[in-house]
Amino acid sequence: MAEAILEVRGLHKHYPLTRGVLFRKEVGSVRAVDGVDLTLRRGETLGVVGESGCGKSTAARLLVSLERPTAGSITYRGEDVTRLSGRALKAVRRNIQMVFQDPYTSLNPRMTVGDIVGEPFDIHPEAAPKGERRRRVRELLDVVGLNPEHINRYPHQFSGGQRQRIGIARGLALRPEIIVADEPVSALDVSVQAQVINLMARLQREFGLSYVFIAHDLSIVRHISDRVAVMYLGRIVESGRDSEIYDHPTHPYTQALLSAVPVPDPRARARRERIILTGDVPSPAAVPSGCRFRTRCWKARDVCAEEVPLLAVPQRLRGGLAGHESACHFAEEKRVVAPTP
Ligand SMILES: Nc1ncnc2c1ncn2[C@@H]1O[C@H](COP(=O)(O)OP(=O)(O)OP(=O)(O)O)[C@@H](O)[C@H]1O
Ligand code: SF4
Ligand SMILES: [Mg+2]
Repeated sequence: MAEAILEVRGLHKHYPLTRGVLFRKEVGSVRAVDGVDLTLRRGETLGVVGESGCGKSTAARLLVSLERPTAGSITYRGEDVTRLSGRALKAVRRNIQMVFQDPYTSLNPRMTVGDIVGEPFDIHPEAAPKGERRRRVRELLDVVGLNPEHINRYPHQFSGGQRQRIGIARGLALRPEIIVADEPVSALDVSVQAQVINLMARLQREFGLSYVFIAHDLSIVRHISDRVAVMYLGRIVESGRDSEIYDHPTHPYTQALLSAVPVPDPRARARRERIILTGDVPSPAAVPSGCRFRTRCWKARDVCAEEVPLLAVPQRLRGGLAGHESACHFAEEKRVVAPTP
């Protein structure tokens, strides 16, 4: 197994909830990220999946040090990034880049493509001498499949897929080791999604990149992920190799998500069990006690309200195909998507 390039332990980001304008009073907190554990290995893609509002973008911003966590550690090259500042932090940020969620809003409409892709060189001038930057930007456009002649165009002159290629070129500019891609294809047409995912897979091989690839749907990350982590209300509830998660899920939430994934084969579709979750996702400002999934879980018992299930390999599942990390007191395998006969 490849070495861990990024290790995240007990990561929290709580935003204060305040009331009043003149005398702002803290009345609680939004627990956007509430104890996330993740390991990213060199050269792999870790898919992170969860519903809207579960804290994916917040976690992404913490991973690339755009925000500081409330608690927890992010270890990169043996150092806890969350404790760094100044030049040391800047050096780390150069190596861990982000591709943003929405290519329609994340590119400044008043900047040319050349200026957008070259912007990281303004922040890290040591990465490319001034006289070289235009040439580097042209190269980057070429690498992501855009015409280098279009360097002076503006974002609105490109399609959604092309705009996300611009975002990827910007993410690549400093030759990072890690790219955190926050739902890079969610805003794109289905036909374009595969092209962008294929591009990212090719760049990963070419540049030896490690990816954290965020999505709200398990089907999107299937083709690109080596391992998958499922997130619910600020925490990882299950993680494992992609075959473990897709074929041997043990957490009820993962099973419910998988049961909603479109199955193209009509015979398999007819045999598959749909799990319809009742109720809404609770607010991250009022996280349920014990297991945070219990208000929607069909297996919940009294203990689920009292004890927080930790993310660990359940003792009785060890050694088997279902033996991977799951944060459930009653983790057990349930095949949701019927195997093709
Ligand atoms: N700066 C902030 N201040 C207060 N609350 C915030 C802030 N940023 C995010 N939140 C809240 O934290 C929670 C998680 O938000 P986040 O954007 O990380 O979710 P997400 O999983 O990326 O959702 P989506 O799939 O919609 O992009 C939400 O309830 C959100 O309203
Ligand atoms: S710990 Fe209980 S409530 Fe939580 S997922 Fe498992 S069975 Fe459901
Ligand atoms: Mg998001």
